[in-house]
Amino acid sequence: MPLSLPTEFRVLVTGGAGFIGSAVVRRLLHESDAEVFNLDKIGYASDLASIGDHPRHHLLKVDLASAEETDAAVRQADPDLVMHLAAESHVDRSIDGPGLFIESNILGTFNLLQSVRRHFEQLSENRRDRFRFHHISTDEVFGSLGSQGRFSEATAYDPRSPYSASKAASDHLVNAWHHTFGLPVVLTNCSNNYGPWQFPEKLIPVVILKALAGESIPLYGDGLNVRDWLYVEDHVDALLLAATSGQIGDHYCVGGAGDHGSPSERSNRDVVETICSILDRIKPQDVPYASLIKRVSDRPGHDRRYAIDSSKISRELGWKPKHSFEEGLKATVEWYLHNLDWCRKVLEKAGYEGQRIGITDQSSVSGS
Ligand code: NAD
Ligand code: TYD
Repeated sequence: MPLSLPTEFRVLVTGGAGFIGSAVVRRLLHESDAEVFNLDKIGYASDLASIGDHPRHHLLKVDLASAEETDAAVRQADPDLVMHLAAESHVDRSIDGPGLFIESNILGTFNLLQSVRRHFEQLSENRRDRFRFHHISTDEVFGSLGSQGRFSEATAYDPRSPYSASKAASDHLVNAWHHTFGLPVVLTNCSNNYGPWQFPEKLIPVVILKALAGESIPLYGDGLNVRDWLYVEDHVDALLLAATSGQIGDHYCVGGAGDHGSPSERSNRDVVETICSILDRIKPQDVPYASLIKRVSDRPGHDRRYAIDSSKISRELGWKPKHSFEEGLKATVEWYLHNLDWCRKVLEKAGYEGQRIGITDQSSVSGS
């Protein structure tokens, strides 16, 4: 799908050195002629290997927590479109150190909105008409579902972790800048992403790496928490559609797909066992990988179930996920198997050795 963007188009992507942001940057570089400005503080989860050198890629190493640096970066980028993905993104880290989430996700979004508003107000009429600020958020702002129902654009906010509370706050700021200052915004709330180049601290890459290393695979609590898995490239399709064709002021929910259009909801136990059986087929060991699965104490405040109703973005913008969870997961396992050196390098750079994080004194111990 070549992107049809106006000529001399300038896009500012924040968080473009992270997992999803780098996939957005790659797509913009490969499928459009846009100049791409990548604002990122280059934190522990950042890596630019997936982007490489490109004449239209401009890195702006900036922390959004600094209003001055953010302002200078927005002026330098002079964007027609802002796609705001920069955020601290790991729930477990938000339990150990919530302050950074407040600083990056709330203060950072505030600083960006202020700079972008100043930029928007001085644009020529022509450029102002086509300008958009696209805020990328999460379904976790809606809280935790029981066994029935799905999140949609009409669901009330009910965040329950420091991470999701900070993202909810940023969504509210973006809406306020739209209603009060007339900033033309679009918001998307998506489910759990997976795919190549994800920093190995989230469930799927953690399981793959632990299994390959012959280490125990940590399954939090009873393993029956449910997530709705979205392949990262399908998410990028949705983001670019929302950014370029979404209605100003609207929200769009984005979730994944299973085989034959079935939902992409899976319990963590199901996901972990499926990864183990893929590995049993493509990299067999003496004993099945599933023998490494170990129930460990639960995450404090662990949301039980997320599921997304994506019908609005499908109906209004024509978005459809192209990868079923089964295909996407197999491709992801194979990618990690072939990129173990990259995993070692980024883990070492981040000083993270795969140890359990995000437990408090109140965590219930249910291990067996
Ligand atoms: P990531 O952690 O892989 O990348 C985030 C990037 O943002 C990093 O490169 C980091 O350095 C940068 N960043 C963080 N704070 C910053 C700051 N103060 N200034 C500048 N840069 C900063 O995260 P991701 O998985 O790529 O997520 C991207 C966005 O999508 C986030 O806003 C996240 O909340 C949202 N999201 C992610 C998922 C998911 O499953 N990964 C699901 C729903 C929503
Ligand atoms: P995670 O990938 O951290 O995403 P999120 O918390 O944003 O949904 O976790 C996905 C699910 O997997 C969540 O229910 C917690 C669980 N989990 C484990 O069981 N073991 C692990 O090692 C990790 C990282 C997560």
